[in-house]
Amino acid sequence: MDFSKLKADFARVFHREDGALFFAPGRINLIGEHTDYNGGHVFPCAITLGTYAVAAKRDDTQVRLISLNFEDLGIISFDLADLEYRKGDNWTNYPKGMIKFLKEAGHGIDSGMDVLFYGNIPNGAGLSSSASIELLTGVILQGLYGLELAELELILTGKKVENEFIGVNSGIMDQFAIGKGQKDMAILLDCNTLDYEMVPVKLAGYTIVIMNTNKRRELADSKYNERRSECEQALAELQQELAIKSLGELDMETFNKYQHLISSETLVKRARHAVSENVRTLQATKALKNEDLMTFGKLINESHMSLRDDYHVTGVELDMLAETAWEQTGVLGARMTGAGFGGCAIAIVETAHVDAFIDNVGKAYAQKIGYPAAFYIANISDGAKAIKEE
Ligand code: GLA
Repeated sequence: MDFSKLKADFARVFHREDGALFFAPGRINLIGEHTDYNGGHVFPCAITLGTYAVAAKRDDTQVRLISLNFEDLGIISFDLADLEYRKGDNWTNYPKGMIKFLKEAGHGIDSGMDVLFYGNIPNGAGLSSSASIELLTGVILQGLYGLELAELELILTGKKVENEFIGVNSGIMDQFAIGKGQKDMAILLDCNTLDYEMVPVKLAGYTIVIMNTNKRRELADSKYNERRSECEQALAELQQELAIKSLGELDMETFNKYQHLISSETLVKRARHAVSENVRTLQATKALKNEDLMTFGKLINESHMSLRDDYHVTGVELDMLAETAWEQTGVLGARMTGAGFGGCAIAIVETAHVDAFIDNVGKAYAQKIGYPAAFYIANISDGAKAIKEE
C-alpha cells in the first residue's frame, strides 16, 4: 500500500497534513458457515485485503468523512450532536454507528475528526467490507482519543452497529475475525461462549485463492434474516423435547433421533446444515492441526454441498465456481465463503497450479455466467490496528 499517496490525498481533501494511519482487514471463513448465529463454531481468518484510513481530530464537533472508493459522493459530514441513521449518508452510517454506540457507552468522544478511507477489498463481495469499516473506525477512535477500549468491546460494538443501526441480523464472526486476526492464523471461535483458539494455517505448497462471482447480493439481507428465523423455528420445535439453547449443541446422532419434531422438510434441512456444519468445522480444525490436508479439503467441499443442498444459499454463480474448482488439478477443496447468494468462494490450490487454475475456472465461469469472475490471492493478516510509520 502506498501510504504517501493516501496521506497526500488526505492533505488535498482536508487541507492538513497531520493524519495518522490505520488499517482493518477483510476476512474469509475457511469453514463454519451460517453457524455463528446458531451457537456453533466458525473458523475464519483476517486477510491482507482490507480498508485503510488517514485520520486526524478536529477542534469542533464535525465528523467529515471521504472514501476514495466513492469519491463522487464527496465529503459526507455530520455533527456529534446528531448521530441518527440516515440513508443518504450512505457508507458513512457504519462509522457513524460506531461513534454513536461508543459515545453512548460513555467513551469520551467530544470533538470531531477528518478521515479519508480507502479499501482494496471489493465492496459487497462477502469479504466483510462493512465490518472492516466498523472495526477500522473503532481503532481510529481508540488512537485519536486514547479511549480505554477492550478489543472485545470493539468487536461487540461492531456487531451492534450491524444489528441495531444498519438492520442486518448478522452474527459475531466477521467483527471477531477482523478484530482478533493474526498473521498466518485462523481463529476457531465458539460463538456460544466466545472462547477461541488461534490455529496456525500451515498449507505447505498450497495457496488460498479467493474467487469473486462479481454478483451483487441485493437480496442477501432479507434471505439472511429468513434463514435465521427458519433455524430459530426449528430450534423451538426441537426444544419441545430437548433441553438445548442452540443448534450448535447438537451432534448428528442426537439431531437424527429428534428431527421428527421439526414440522417441515425445509426446516429439517436448514437445521441439519447448522448441526452438520458445526461438526465439520471441529473436524476440519482437527485435520488442519494434524496437517491432514486431504481431510481438511474434503470437509471444505462437503461444507459447500450442505450450503447448496440443505441451506440453499449458494446459487448458480457460487456453484459454478466451486464445482469447476473441484475438477481442477491440484485443488484440495473449494467452497463459498461468507453469507452466500453471490459474493465470494475460496479454493485451496497447489501453488504451482494457481495460474492454470485461475485461467480455467475464469474461462468456464465467463462462458456459463456471461460476465467474468475476479480472483485474488488470500494472505492471512493481523487484525485492525494503527499503522506505525518507520
Ligand atoms: C455473514 C454474517 C456472519 C455469518 C456469515 C455466514 O458474513 O455477517 O455473521 O453469519 O454471513 O456464516
